[in-house]
Amino acid sequence: SGAPRPRLTFLGTGYLGATYAICFAELGYEVIGFDVDAEKIARLAAGQVPFHEPGLDELLRRNLATGRLRFSTDMAEVAEFGDVHFICVGTPQRPGGMGADLSYVESAVTELSQHLTRKALIVGKSTVPVGTAEWIEQLVEKHVPAELGVEVAWSPEFLQEGFAVEDVLRPNRVVVGVRSDWANGMLYAVHKGVFDLAVTEDREVPLVVTDFATAELVKVAANAFLATKISFINAMAEVCEVAGGDVTQLAKAIGYDPRIGNRFLQAGIGFGGGCLPKDIRAFQARAQELGAGEALRFLHEVDLINQRRRARVVHLAAELLGRRSGPAGPDLSGTRVAVLGATFKPNSDDVRDAPSLAVAVALLKAGAQVRVFDPEGMANARRAHPELTYAAGMAEACQDADLVCVLTEWTDFRNADPVALGEIVAGRRVVDGRNCLDPGMWTRAGWEYRGM
Ligand code: UGA
Repeated sequence: SGAPRPRLTFLGTGYLGATYAICFAELGYEVIGFDVDAEKIARLAAGQVPFHEPGLDELLRRNLATGRLRFSTDMAEVAEFGDVHFICVGTPQRPGGMGADLSYVESAVTELSQHLTRKALIVGKSTVPVGTAEWIEQLVEKHVPAELGVEVAWSPEFLQEGFAVEDVLRPNRVVVGVRSDWANGMLYAVHKGVFDLAVTEDREVPLVVTDFATAELVKVAANAFLATKISFINAMAEVCEVAGGDVTQLAKAIGYDPRIGNRFLQAGIGFGGGCLPKDIRAFQARAQELGAGEALRFLHEVDLINQRRRARVVHLAAELLGRRSGPAGPDLSGTRVAVLGATFKPNSDDVRDAPSLAVAVALLKAGAQVRVFDPEGMANARRAHPELTYAAGMAEACQDADLVCVLTEWTDFRNADPVALGEIVAGRRVVDGRNCLDPGMWTRAGWEYRGM
């Protein structure tokens, strides 16, 4: 329709902000992406996405060319330009604690507020402890003259790395936490492009309009549920293992019940990444502060189950290699182990809290010589874990290895030929950390196979 489209800014051009900025330009909005990191801004302005996300490069270049999308380090320009400003900066786990570090949110909001000269809506998107939107409102009140009428709202995101473009353009829901009709209308206008696209594709995107606290909680509740689902199936894997059951078939069988659903029931070495692990910890810390710690005590168990999976791989490795465990854990000295996978999941170059790398480090600490290969994550893995040895390819990693551990389910690893690999290893032993290989095929090729 002919209604004017609000001009959007995204503060923080990390994974979240950059993806949103680019995708909203694609939907036809005028957009500025802002960051304090001049190098990041220069790269984006030159058409380079600083992380791996399928489809995003092309959208970036196309929308830079139309002029709808710009990047800037100049907050005055951003404040002048935007009708709606999205806060997309990081909220890492506080060093030495479980809670979230809000210092980037605080500085982004403060700096923006000091530059605002007209009415605008500030919308939080970063994952935060419940109560943050209200705190931002107070920050804004402190720095912005009341007569400008600047307002705050909350709109969580649910992007999955590897599917981020789809998740922004075709979300399965839009959630907004608002205090006024004006803010509500503004956020409707912001998402009009998403709703219109859905209509042309004969889909519907549900819109949930709610209060601040609910909007903030929706995000962490969703991630807590997903983490719980993964730890649930991993707990079943532990039971299956001692009882002689097959967790993959169990997952399939319970997943046919639509109340349970078959997704996120893949047992393996557990969840990692920049979100689920830190979010469940921050959620517990916040619930504790609010006096509802008991309600989330199960998330501690979810975390423990998840950590146990990583240790389990090391024990399986020792078992296959015929090594006994001492009081300090298994001794793998003198063994050569190939680790296939460094990213926290396939189709990503992200190694934050990657279970695969945690296992690689644990194997190294147990005395093994470890060689790691990943199709996309090598540069980030090297930076995070310079103590590990890296190979240029799958074959190089596996050459003369006594054991192969498949720890991220990249297609190249799933499709690896056990016969050919069997020719170059020293011992045909494989730990399938993601239950992503065909055990029959590997066993027939002479491998001793252990799944999770
Ligand atoms: C997660 C959520 O899925 C998104 O909805 C959310 O928006 C995002 O966090 C966020 O808070 O920003 P992401 O971190 O990209 O997205 O990764 P997931 O696809 O959720 O995978 C997380 C981890 O769980 C991976 O290590 C993956 O290997 C593991 N996983 C996933 C399993 O072990 N089993 C499964 O069945 C599914």
